Amino acid sequence: MLINCRRVKKWHFLQLVSMCCVMSILMVCWEHVDHHVVSHVKSYSYRYLINSYAFINKSLSVSPEEAARFGSFPYLLNNRDVCKDKDVLLLLFVKSSPGNFKRRQAIRSTWGDESYVSRELGVIVKVVFAMGANPDALTNKSLLKDLQKEHVNHGDLVQQDFLDTFHNLTLKLLLQFHWTHENCAHARFLMTADDDVFIHMPNLVRHLQDLRRRNVRNLWVGHVHRGAPPIRRRDSKYYMPFDMYQWSSYPDYTAGAGYVVSGDVAAKIYQAMLSLNASMHIDDVFMGVCAIAAGVSPQEHVYFSGEGKTPYHPCIYEKMITSHGHEDDIRYLWKVATSPEVEGISSGLVGKLYCTAVKMMLLCKPYFTNTYACMGAFT
Ligand SMILES: *[C@@H]1O[C@H](CO)[C@@H](O)[C@H](O)[C@H]1NC(C)=O
Ligand SMILES: *[C@@H]1O[C@H](CO)[C@@H](O)[C@H](O)[C@H]1NC(C)=O
Ligand SMILES: *[C@@H]1O[C@H](CO)[C@@H](O)[C@H](O)[C@H]1NC(C)=O
Ligand SMILES: *[C@@H]1O[C@H](CO)[C@@H](O)[C@H](O)[C@H]1NC(C)=O
Repeated sequence: MLINCRRVKKWHFLQLVSMCCVMSILMVCWEHVDHHVVSHVKSYSYRYLINSYAFINKSLSVSPEEAARFGSFPYLLNNRDVCKDKDVLLLLFVKSSPGNFKRRQAIRSTWGDESYVSRELGVIVKVVFAMGANPDALTNKSLLKDLQKEHVNHGDLVQQDFLDTFHNLTLKLLLQFHWTHENCAHARFLMTADDDVFIHMPNLVRHLQDLRRRNVRNLWVGHVHRGAPPIRRRDSKYYMPFDMYQWSSYPDYTAGAGYVVSGDVAAKIYQAMLSLNASMHIDDVFMGVCAIAAGVSPQEHVYFSGEGKTPYHPCIYEKMITSHGHEDDIRYLWKVATSPEVEGISSGLVGKLYCTAVKMMLLCKPYFTNTYACMGAFT
């Protein structure tokens, strides 16, 4: 009897200790669990069960006078006539910063080479670099001089007088849609892209020509984020304060690295911007907010990348549209991705089997690789 009792006590004691262990591990990790699991459960439930973002119209609307304060910075550099009297298939805004001379030069001599596009692809694409004012422009006179020289030589810069910082990216978004409305409203498509993005221009142009032929309207296409939760950790770059956005899920939006809208959508988004509170600093989320107000929703294209970088393979090059995170290899990638060997690599039964197998190996790995989704192997 006595022994038995002791055994039970010991057993209880062990249970208690292990409970405590589990509890303390949970408590230590709770922040992690909270941010990564709970917030996603909440946001996915909201997105997929309720999926109503009607509050945006009500809560983020402001008077036109107040909205105008966000988007009315004077132009420091401008090139109003870029699109004038031209049948522009695509107006492509690259989000740049004054100091990024090398990136702009790399883009102009590769995928952003307008004369290559008109010569080889037979369409007009206009590439314009959007920027704010350099935070240290006042102290760095040589940067100002270089920028002025670049402006005169290339005629493709548009700069407004707001500080060019990460938290002002939404002002850069407003700049792009305002400028388009004022100077290039007739462009069939509008694209916005980061300056470290690689764009497979021939593939993109072919895709857009096809859409134009079918007279597609109401288009917003890119790498879509659905049910993304606002990040509430103060130390995050994407921290979203509660009083700026109190709901548990963002509206659907496309990754800011690169997306395309049709001309009619560009006009609708511009109109929506005229009565929205643009203090939300995450530009691609704000685009999602504008789209709700404009009644537009995004479509997924598997070969538009988010954060991800393309796997380097001709079978991928044949289909890819954008890839993110390129600085030093833009020239290399442009050369290999547009080489004649890529064209038709997946034609015929053998080619098709070969490329499907290769792409499955590259894209369908069991762990998260952050490139194109596995779906891409079958398209
Ligand atoms: C918000 O308002 C716009 C225009 O008034 C409308 O087209 C859109 O459907 C509304 N969105 C929601 C979610 O109510
Ligand atoms: C000033 O700008 C030039 C580019 O025009 C850059 O090379 C240089 O490093 C900058 N100097 C400072 C102190 O930031
Ligand atoms: C955004 O730009 C405005 C105008 O130049 C400036 O006053 C503000 O401090 C900038 N905001 C951030 C977060 O950099
Ligand atoms: C816009 O939103 C910010 C942050 O939520 C808020 O502080 C500001 O008062 C709003 N502006 C207007 C004009 O409502």
